[in-house]
Amino acid sequence: MIAIGGYFELELPQVIQYHGQAINLNSGRHSLEYILRLRSYTKIWIPYYTCEVVLQPIKKLGIDYGFYHIDEMLEPIFAYDSLADNEAFLYTNYFGIKDHYIRSLPAKCNIIIDNSMAFFAKPIPGFDTFYSARKFFGVPDGAYLYTYEGSRLDMDLPQSTSYQRCAHLLKRIDLGAEQGYADFKANDATLSDQEIMTMSKLTERILCSIDYKYVESRRLGNYRLYHQNLGQHNMLPEMLLNAVECGPLVYPFLTDRLGLREYLISKKVFVAQYWPNVLQWSDEDSWELKLTNQLIALPIDQRIEESKTEAILAFLNDWRMNENR
Ligand SMILES: Cc1ncc(COP(=O)(O)O)c(C=O)c1O
Repeated sequence: MIAIGGYFELELPQVIQYHGQAINLNSGRHSLEYILRLRSYTKIWIPYYTCEVVLQPIKKLGIDYGFYHIDEMLEPIFAYDSLADNEAFLYTNYFGIKDHYIRSLPAKCNIIIDNSMAFFAKPIPGFDTFYSARKFFGVPDGAYLYTYEGSRLDMDLPQSTSYQRCAHLLKRIDLGAEQGYADFKANDATLSDQEIMTMSKLTERILCSIDYKYVESRRLGNYRLYHQNLGQHNMLPEMLLNAVECGPLVYPFLTDRLGLREYLISKKVFVAQYWPNVLQWSDEDSWELKLTNQLIALPIDQRIEESKTEAILAFLNDWRMNENR
């Protein structure tokens, strides 16, 4: 019997989940672990340019791994023909703008698509594909997984709980971004200690309350506004930036002038660095190191109205003018 009456729970509108057909899990890294267990791979190829947490399930399961480079279009430099049946190949849908490329991949079922940066990308039948929710929405954790041919692990998974990981979400509203940051880091760290679990009821409930149409159109609108104004100064190829199809994560702005990240942070525009671990993994003159140091991930999320994007563009303009003096 579900309790009726009494005190209220957090009240949220009831809409529907965006990835209603997927397997709901606790995090992106645990979705990767699910795939690795399901397919019994013995080796996986991962890009130098990715987040170090993808190594957690690989190391946990004792699987061999190798790295590959990406080119200017953020596409793998890799001979897919050389991939053995027991080897997996992990590709990241960078910034959520590589859907077109993913559709052109050879139909090999041992390619895994990491859509952690591409929540709105459609899964392509034929690939195991996972998504992480917390880069896109105010949730503490949560992931979606589509498996090739709908295969499932023969394992009873416990259900996660997330209420204990929500302080940063609440503090950001009550106290502001700076006061919640330590909690964000601490809550983030707790994801590493978990097992594969199904998504918590709380995360699922929050993900059922989101206006996905609005989120996607706001993200696309901001992306395009940045691109109209900054495209000519962006060192990333025009063809790559124009390939955006669905709501991306950020607008990636590559510049060879130093100090932009620090300048924006001084204006309270917080820009994430993708990914600090690449500084250790890559050679000094590598493309991946350049991306890590010089790519500015301009925020485009659903909280940012057009007027705020214009304000950020004005900061960028001032910064460029100052550099020219
Ligand atoms: C590219 C990429 N893949 C996977 C993950 C893992 O997602 P999660 O934090 O939900 O485990 C992250 C972020 O943490 C990421 O940036």
